[in-house]
Amino acid sequence: MIDVEKLHFTYPGRKEPTIKGMDFTINEGEIFGFLGPSGAGKSTAQKILIGMLKNYQGRVRIFDQEVSQVKRSYYERIGVAFEFPNFYQRLTAMENLSLFRSLYTGETVAPEELLMEMGLNESARMKVSAYSKGMKMRLNLCRALLNKPDILFLDEPTSGLDPLNAKKVKNKIVRLKEEGKTILITTHNMNTADEICDRVAFIVDGRIQLIDTPRNLKVRHNEKKVQVESREKDHGLKINEFDLQGIGTNPDFLTLLRSNKIETIHTQEATLEDIFINVTGRGLN
Ligand SMILES: Nc1ncnc2c1ncn2[C@@H]1O[C@H](COP(=O)(O)OP(=O)(O)O)[C@@H](O)[C@H]1O
Ligand SMILES: [Mg+2]
Repeated sequence: MIDVEKLHFTYPGRKEPTIKGMDFTINEGEIFGFLGPSGAGKSTAQKILIGMLKNYQGRVRIFDQEVSQVKRSYYERIGVAFEFPNFYQRLTAMENLSLFRSLYTGETVAPEELLMEMGLNESARMKVSAYSKGMKMRLNLCRALLNKPDILFLDEPTSGLDPLNAKKVKNKIVRLKEEGKTILITTHNMNTADEICDRVAFIVDGRIQLIDTPRNLKVRHNEKKVQVESREKDHGLKINEFDLQGIGTNPDFLTLLRSNKIETIHTQEATLEDIFINVTGRGLN
């Protein structure tokens, strides 16, 4: 569906390239995530894929056409949600969606249907200027879906959302995948990447460091730890960490176990962020 080879890109007037050689393929019906810290080049890569930045080097094939050559019809088949949604503030949500809908020549979805699904039906007649950030983000997703796109590009779809709204958006993205859509999301949120992506690309400084399923990443990179909290006499809680591997013969662990001072024992699973830090040497912020 999407095939990218040796992608390089430098913004006009900049010396350093922002994209420094990316190779990846996104399969039909897949949710593919770009996970990386701010400034890594995620939005830039996405703008290249949607045909906004054309002076790139390398190959970017989508629907079997080179993206720098696509015609207007390309935009009938893709849906885009930018990180910072742009709406007509003085128009209502409904008026905004109707306006954007009128720009398409192909089949479209009724805005009411989308607003209902994203829990915005009761605020459909409210001006966008009165919308909260969470409402705007959901409206942004509605807008991206107006033309029944085959491929969706969603830039930071859960950024700045409270857990409930983030959940609504994530559930919708998963339902879209179940309908057969191909979805690229960019995120610096490891939970979003972990919960909904079929595969994740770790992006740092314009390069993809690794691509895998969240599950494989955890299986391959997870060194399980056991965290033990113990109460020392006249002291506060003390926290010790042990490798799960070989714990049965670890003398320090066994001494602690026999000491009767243990308050809690937990195994610790590495999060996607721990793995990201391990692999790339960088955090996600
Ligand atoms: N229009 C632009 N002109 C010049 N540099 C830009 C422009 N947009 C982004 N950049 C730079 O490109 C780099 C990557 O930005 P971006 O793709 O937005 O990263 P991310 O989405 O991963 O946070 C940053 O260093 C940013 O300053
Ligand atoms: Mg970005």
